[in-house]
Amino acid sequence: MLTAEDNQLLTETGPDAPMGRLFRRFWTPALLSGELPGPDCTPVRLQVLGEDYLAFRDTQGRVGVVEPHCPHRGADLFFGRNEQEGIRCVYHGWKFDVHGRCVDMPTLEPGTQRDRICEKTRLNALPVREAGGIVWVYMGPGEAPPLPELEFLTVPESHRYVSKKLQECNWAQACEGGLDTAHFSFLHMSLEDDEHSTAAMGQSALVASGNPALIRWVRNDGRPRFTILEHPAGLVIGGARKADADDLYWRISQFLLPNHGLTPAAFAGENYHGQTWVPIDDHSCWIYCYTWNPERPLTDAERAKFRGGHAVHAETDANHVPLRNRSNLYLLDRQEQKQRSFTGVRGVSEQDACIQDSQGRIANRTREHLGPTDIGIVRFRRRILEAARDLAAGNAPPAAMQPAAYHVRSGSAIAPSSQTLEEVMVNRFGHPHGWVAHQEKETA
Ligand code: FES
Ligand SMILES: [Fe+2]
Repeated sequence: MLTAEDNQLLTETGPDAPMGRLFRRFWTPALLSGELPGPDCTPVRLQVLGEDYLAFRDTQGRVGVVEPHCPHRGADLFFGRNEQEGIRCVYHGWKFDVHGRCVDMPTLEPGTQRDRICEKTRLNALPVREAGGIVWVYMGPGEAPPLPELEFLTVPESHRYVSKKLQECNWAQACEGGLDTAHFSFLHMSLEDDEHSTAAMGQSALVASGNPALIRWVRNDGRPRFTILEHPAGLVIGGARKADADDLYWRISQFLLPNHGLTPAAFAGENYHGQTWVPIDDHSCWIYCYTWNPERPLTDAERAKFRGGHAVHAETDANHVPLRNRSNLYLLDRQEQKQRSFTGVRGVSEQDACIQDSQGRIANRTREHLGPTDIGIVRFRRRILEAARDLAAGNAPPAAMQPAAYHVRSGSAIAPSSQTLEEVMVNRFGHPHGWVAHQEKETA
């Protein structure tokens, strides 16, 4: 449970809110690179953390993310012409490049006076980087920090698949849903026997390795015991369920400041998945979804599966809106719910979206009753609220300046119950916090 004040602190990300200021100290996904498919293509309107921007790709292929209103008399540059190294306002022809510099002002006589005015008339333009099929922006003060070394950004393009999906609720409850691995025993369960469930859930990549025992363990143990480890970029959240004999089935996720989560399903060699929750405003967010395999390219069949909705990826329309969404009750099928699945909603991503949206546009955390399986959620809130308060007190988040700390993995392991989470992590990833960069540096 949170006080009303802390719930507000957690969920409000506008420019003047403490959490909004914290988010602005980190790089933020603004749109997919593919939304700006080529030089001088159609510009795209954006809302990020409650602020309006316009994104365009210039003749050289560079991306600009700028304030949308022309400094002359405020016309919307969305209607502008994207031509020859800049966006030109169609009201009176002023033109700006990707850095927001005015490069033409045809309403004034050419000469030094015009050059001076042009020099002073800038559009607010954000620092931009393209990495991992995503256009990232830095919306904070001062010089932009380095991009975080999330592993999907470091692998060749052939080894990753990236998508985005609209979520119609506040970012924080969607993020909590991603970190809450206890719900797997319920929300995503099939009512069929273990063999059929494994086939169904293998479809969803929740149990990637297709081992029927995994489903049985998840089904039979709805009370995973959680252990949380702190590290410079965030938290390791380990949930242990009873396996056979004296073993535990660990499903381990990662929270990375301020808004990234890595999922817990992958065994060694399997595909890894992650999500980044980016507030559009305080009532909706874009979820950037990524799958990568550090060891091999993804196959065409895998890509086709992700496009159709698989694992973290939703089945969406061309505007990245999930086909099963708040407006059509996620196409909930009550017959299906009686006979085959716990929710009657098709798709793991859609089941998550349905239940997270159902908490309200902004979940009321003052009325919760948290228990032992919510420890990961409690620690997530504590960590990010602390970071927001620290920044308000003048201490910038150290994680923003430690890009290598983001090169971590999450996933599954089967281990004797005598092993601690640190030992399980070392055996599975070679480091107690799943830090892959550490090993690469050591062996380099
Ligand atoms: S309002 Fe844009 S050039 Fe006049
Ligand atoms: Fe889920």
